[in-house]
Amino acid sequence: MSADPIPLAGVIGWPIWHSKSPRVHGYWLNFLGIKGHYIPMNVAPEDLETVLHSLPKAGFVGCNVTIPHKEAVLALADEVSDRAARVGAANTLVFKDGKIHADNTDGYGFIANLKQNAPDWQPDAGPAAVFGAGGAARGVIDGLLTAGVPEIRLTNRTRERAEALAEHFGDKVTVIAWDRAEIAAEGANTLVNTTSLGMEGQPPFTLSLAGAAKGALATDIVYVPLDTPFLIEARKQGLETVDGLGMLLHQAVPGFNAWFGTSPAVDAALRDVVLAP
Ligand code: ATR
Repeated sequence: MSADPIPLAGVIGWPIWHSKSPRVHGYWLNFLGIKGHYIPMNVAPEDLETVLHSLPKAGFVGCNVTIPHKEAVLALADEVSDRAARVGAANTLVFKDGKIHADNTDGYGFIANLKQNAPDWQPDAGPAAVFGAGGAARGVIDGLLTAGVPEIRLTNRTRERAEALAEHFGDKVTVIAWDRAEIAAEGANTLVNTTSLGMEGQPPFTLSLAGAAKGALATDIVYVPLDTPFLIEARKQGLETVDGLGMLLHQAVPGFNAWFGTSPAVDAALRDVVLAP
């Protein structure tokens, strides 16, 4: 008699040791009493393909993918979800029926965090201002458009990156010059910092958000520190704020559900586990 296999999942990155995902999934596995393991895997770009094709044979049901592999895995996947194709990157892989399925849950996690922590937020009530046009901005923009935001004003230090995203995502995204970035906030109903400004060890975010619409919602993808200069400025202007930690937690839910068969909760206890030193 052979025992049922214990499902394995994990996160592939390079380097990987800073990742909080093992804490998130480890907490859920333990809390829910599910037999399974979630493992950090340090994989160099030249080894990605070999490792990915070996994992299912070793008992893996899927994995998360992080920097620098999020774009490269699309070419290695057998099936790519619509949202991963739109974003041009994947963060969640499911191994099923001998195939690698690639998905991107960043935009979902971004919106789920806002819905949980600012339940009165109405995405379609007005334009959004998005600061930054790097990798993280792609998931945020896709999430905002899917949630029904009518217009996105995108501003980035390197204008060409913003223009490339505007071209990719279509007419609803317009580019505002970085030296006039405060104009993006004028009348905005949703404001998002996707730059690394304000992150521990990085320069602060110093732009004014004074022009934002009354009752607007501001959120930051930076969560170290939890209370960023962007969120502090937003509160100073009377805006509602949601910190960025919840995006990390919510983006993990669909993967856990696909691998382990249960949709786990994002709650205060999980936040405490992730924030513990
Ligand atoms: P991620 O994938 O996390 O978005 P990234 O692709 O390196 O990381 O993007 C970082 C973002 O922060 C970019 O929008 C970057 O602007 P550039 O495209 O001009 O590089 C922005 N950023 C980083 N440092 C900045 C600074 N000192 N001033 C303004 N924007 C900055």
